[in-house]
Amino acid sequence: MPSTITINMNKKPIYDIKIENDFAALPEALKALGFEGKRAAIVSDSNVTPLYADEVKGLLEGMFSEVFICTFEAGEKSKNMDTVMQLLKQFVEHRMNRHDLVIALGGGVVGDVAGFCAAIYMRGIDVIQVPTSLLAQVDSSVGGKTGVDLDAYKNMVGAFKMPRLVYINISTLKSLDVRQYYAGMGEVMKYGLIMDASFYEWIISKMYEIHDRDADILEEMVAHCCTCKQRIVERDPHEEGDRALLNFGHTIGHAIEKYKEFELLHGECVALGCVAAAYISYKRGKLSTEEYYEVRDMFVPFKLPISVDNIDAEKIAELTRSDKKAMDGGIKFILLKRVGKAYIDTAVTQEEILEGIREIEYREDNE
Ligand code: GLY
Repeated sequence: MPSTITINMNKKPIYDIKIENDFAALPEALKALGFEGKRAAIVSDSNVTPLYADEVKGLLEGMFSEVFICTFEAGEKSKNMDTVMQLLKQFVEHRMNRHDLVIALGGGVVGDVAGFCAAIYMRGIDVIQVPTSLLAQVDSSVGGKTGVDLDAYKNMVGAFKMPRLVYINISTLKSLDVRQYYAGMGEVMKYGLIMDASFYEWIISKMYEIHDRDADILEEMVAHCCTCKQRIVERDPHEEGDRALLNFGHTIGHAIEKYKEFELLHGECVALGCVAAAYISYKRGKLSTEEYYEVRDMFVPFKLPISVDNIDAEKIAELTRSDKKAMDGGIKFILLKRVGKAYIDTAVTQEEILEGIREIEYREDNE
């Protein structure tokens, strides 16, 4: 059943998240936003362009004066200023102006890069997010965070750029490879753990349907995650407070991602970071032993890692200090009070972080 969630700010509607089973309703949604007769740049990557770009272009050609596709190499390694420059040059070549539209069609990297290009081209043009990965549908396409990495510094350059629309076609989840699909489950579990214990229980109870990518269950799951994200970003759009809760698992997760030179997917690193953060919560006496092991072990059926080999725990602990969020006035570590309730802790020590990382370091007795 298609559904719409509206993101409001200061009691005013800012944009809709439309959840559909195909791309068919996209032209009407864009007409309603007044884009008829404008130009549209579909920004996508080498994985997604061959799957969906022609279909989306075909649907939109009748209503825009021009629709063109800009494709960059898929992967986190493309999330940099070189890609941004290449895209901006293509916008200029196609004479894009301030009334035209960028369509971010793809996963988290596409959404971040295309959104950032839209934020800076001619001091800002409109963008819509059309997320095709689970991670992007449940998290990164909503809330307006855009940006690129600066060498190994993740998301170091960026801007808040609210989309005019988030259009989710659930059926794109069918085409995701298994690893990418489950990587998105790391972010889904995160919502349950930080803010919604009954959703956490629901995820576990629907494990087999999620595994089979049952369309109704996926729709319910994505819609629920978008509602969780809506609640947070409406309250704190620019991460001055509670939005930081969404970074559960990310402090250590980002450090592992960097240490492993992006060989592991973001969602996989987030899962590892969540286990380490749950362990620190347990050591602080917030979670019982049983709760900690349950949190840790529930990542396993969703094919997410709970330990990682060939790491240097001290180097990873050191890397947590060079994260963008750590530079921004010290580490705001997210811990669990219990399953379904997270809090921000600014007093987590380097020793605790190191202990958390050692807990997820692969050992034979840890598997
Ligand atoms: N992905 C975390 C956030 O949007 O704040």
